[in-house]
Amino acid sequence: MRRMTVDSERGPYEVIAEAGAVTRLGAVVDEEGVERPRSVVSDTTVGPLWGEPAARSLGSVLIELDDGEVHKRWSSVENVLAHWLDGGLHRGDSVLAVGGGVITDTVGFAAAIFLRGVSWVAVPTTLLAMVDAAVGGKTGINLEQGKNLAGAFWPPRLVVIDVETLATLPERELRAGMAEVVKTAWIGDRELLKLIRLEWPADQSSQRAVAWEEIVMRCLTVKARVVSDDEREVGKRAALNLGHTLGHALEAATGYRHFLHGEAVAWGLLAAARLGRRHGLLGADGEGAIAAAVSALQPLPAIAGIDADAVRAHIGLDKKKDHAGVRWVLPTDDGVALDQRVPADEVVEVFRELKELSIS
Ligand code: GLY
Repeated sequence: MRRMTVDSERGPYEVIAEAGAVTRLGAVVDEEGVERPRSVVSDTTVGPLWGEPAARSLGSVLIELDDGEVHKRWSSVENVLAHWLDGGLHRGDSVLAVGGGVITDTVGFAAAIFLRGVSWVAVPTTLLAMVDAAVGGKTGINLEQGKNLAGAFWPPRLVVIDVETLATLPERELRAGMAEVVKTAWIGDRELLKLIRLEWPADQSSQRAVAWEEIVMRCLTVKARVVSDDEREVGKRAALNLGHTLGHALEAATGYRHFLHGEAVAWGLLAAARLGRRHGLLGADGEGAIAAAVSALQPLPAIAGIDADAVRAHIGLDKKKDHAGVRWVLPTDDGVALDQRVPADEVVEVFRELKELSIS
């Protein structure tokens, strides 16, 4: 078992990684001194696989939400809140989310606002949720106008990672999660890029679980360092948005149905690398390294049919904007540069260049 502590405004919490933990969650939360969650929330895909054993082990009720980014919305939050009220949950009760980033974001947000806030435990079952979404306290949902536009900082009480859940993850989801690994590696752990090369394409050997745990915990070491310093993103936490400005716009422009989040981020990383080069922040080697890491995640859903004006409009709605416009994070040779201004016409130019790439 591996563990780390993440600092947060609401107190430190533990992230533990243990193969097989989902099926013995009751014992795990007891060992960690965390109150047993009374409600387990998952989705219709992950529920039968991992939600049921989790709920059984905890002796809790399982709620299954519709699956997919398109369901990361108010109606899902209302649904969960109604179940919790009908189930007689109190303010002192705790709840648990089992699933990918859509579930941990949605349930974490529901926990943040239910009776003005109840404790929650995150059990991420996708690579993306393990390395990013479930840790750091950001919770939220999408609005019609854009991605993650309603939310709260509401850190979990405990995060339990069981890399055995990756065995049931479709390869497409695994590839999408790797985009967040590439992002994290560029921000704070370049050695990770080498590990990724060893692990990808997915190695089916018995060492696999160990390698995934190593990758996940290294990513979380970078993330914990960043969020412990700047939980509410007044400064350097914005680094974690590398690749996300275009990524979020692509998701929104296609109604959250065309891309998995990580796939949109993969395109966003390519765009950010090009922009970093254009702005004199990143050399040719750096741009090539990011492009090579993203190429390894192919196939990606095509962007050829996406209207540049729709992308321009959605970038204008990005929540990381101030009165002077959208604040981009661009890669540099040794990390990232925050608060970069990129004219909308230049974004569209780079987007058109990407459309010419045969990466999908
Ligand atoms: N996923 C970006 C962040 O946690 O800040």
